[in-house]
Formats: sequence, structure tokens, C-alpha cells
Amino acid sequence: MKKKSGPAKRVLVTAGATIEPLDPVRFISNFSTGTLGYEIAKSCKKRNFKVNLITAPTQLPAPRGLDLTRVRTAIEMEKAVFKQIKKCDAIIMAAAVCDFKPCVKRDEKIKKRGAITLKLVKNPDILERIGERKGLVKIGFSLESNNAVRNSEKKLRKKKLDLVVINVKTKANDPFGPGEKDFMLLYKNGRLEKVKGINKKRMANIIVDKLERLLGGRQ
Ligand code: CTP
Repeated sequence: MKKKSGPAKRVLVTAGATIEPLDPVRFISNFSTGTLGYEIAKSCKKRNFKVNLITAPTQLPAPRGLDLTRVRTAIEMEKAVFKQIKKCDAIIMAAAVCDFKPCVKRDEKIKKRGAITLKLVKNPDILERIGERKGLVKIGFSLESNNAVRNSEKKLRKKKLDLVVINVKTKANDPFGPGEKDFMLLYKNGRLEKVKGINKKRMANIIVDKLERLLGGRQ
């Protein structure tokens, strides 16, 4: 007899690069395009998960059929995550959250002059603040340019993750933009898997395979 499947699980996916305004016309941000996060959200949707996508600005078309929330800053993303996480079974935090934001956001455009000094403060670490929640599967990302595995192990423990997807920025492997990339997957039990020369759509499918396994069964 075919096993009856339970209600669809709900996954929260974050994507895109947060932007941190300096004045009404300028911001600081990073090179993330949001592609992998959007592909993960689409792959989850295809497999009948209920999907909440919280997205920082990207150039990508909005995927259809999911609950979409647009945010700009890390603080806005944090608020949206905390509002939505209670009803979710898993979070995949693919967003490139700016670690720093300008100390003050000027109301007027900063006028051109010889040199200016920008003072930045730390943004909250959203994944870390979520902490450990019974029954919640947590998948994070780790972008490193050196000591990738060791640094990612630290992130995994500090942010209490089940799985961390590692991107290494080298001359040969640029995680930003289109094309084939190398990834590593590091699990809570220390297992490390290497995935080489793969595009983001296929990588998104692999990440969702792992999510299904961590949730303890298929949808
Ligand atoms: N992250 C987060 N909140 C932040 C910064 C990062 O939730 N303020 C999440 C990212 O979405 C990612 C993971 O934490 O899933 C790791 O992000 P990464 O930039 O690789 O590392 P950081 O923890 O920011 O540390 P560092 O920049 O020092 O490597």
C-alpha cells in the first residue's frame, strides 16, 4: 500500500544581496545576484513544498506560486525572517546579508568633497539569532576565500546549522554570476562532500535533495 504523505512542509528561503543606504541615492552592498536562492525556491516549489521567499533586491523575475516578501536591508530581512520562521519547517539562508551598514543614513545627499570617511556598524547575524529550534532544519551558506572548510565548520557550529553550503572565492572559481562553479557541503556530523563544475540550477536541486533527506523523507 502506498504510504500516505503528510501535509506539505513549509520552507523559508532567503536570497539576494541586502543593500545598506548611505544617503537617499547611495548604498553599500555586494556582488550576489540572488540566482542560487531563487533556483532553490523554485526547486522547493516544484517538489510541493510551501515556500516563503524573502528577497533582497535582485534583477531576477519573481518566481510564481510562492509567498514573496521584498526587503532591502539586513534589518528588514531579519524582521521578515522572524515573522515567518515560526510556521516553517526549514530555512535555507542563501541571502548575502551585508555584515556592516553605515552608522548613520543621511537624509540629504552627501556632497562631493576631497575625501570622506565612512563609519560602519555590524548588522545582526540573522542565522545565529534564530539559534536552535526543535524540528527546524537550518541550511546556511559560507563564502570564504581561504581556510574555507575550517572557517565554515566554525560557522556551522556558531549558527547551529544542519548543513552549510561552501562557496570558495578564488581566481578559478568565482561564486558570483553565471556558469559552472565548485561547491562543498559540510554536515553537522563533519561529513564533507565536494560538488565540482555545476551550474546553479543543478546545485539548487542537490541542495533541495539534501533538505528532503534532513527533513526525514520526501514530500
Ligand atoms: N548571514 C546572516 N546574517 C548576517 C550575515 C550572514 O544570517 N548578518 C548568513 C548568510 O545568509 C549565510 C551565513 O550566514 O547563510 C554565512 O554568511 P557568510 O557571509 O559566509 O559569513 P559570515 O557569518 O557573515 O562571516 P564572515 O563574513 O566573517 O565570513
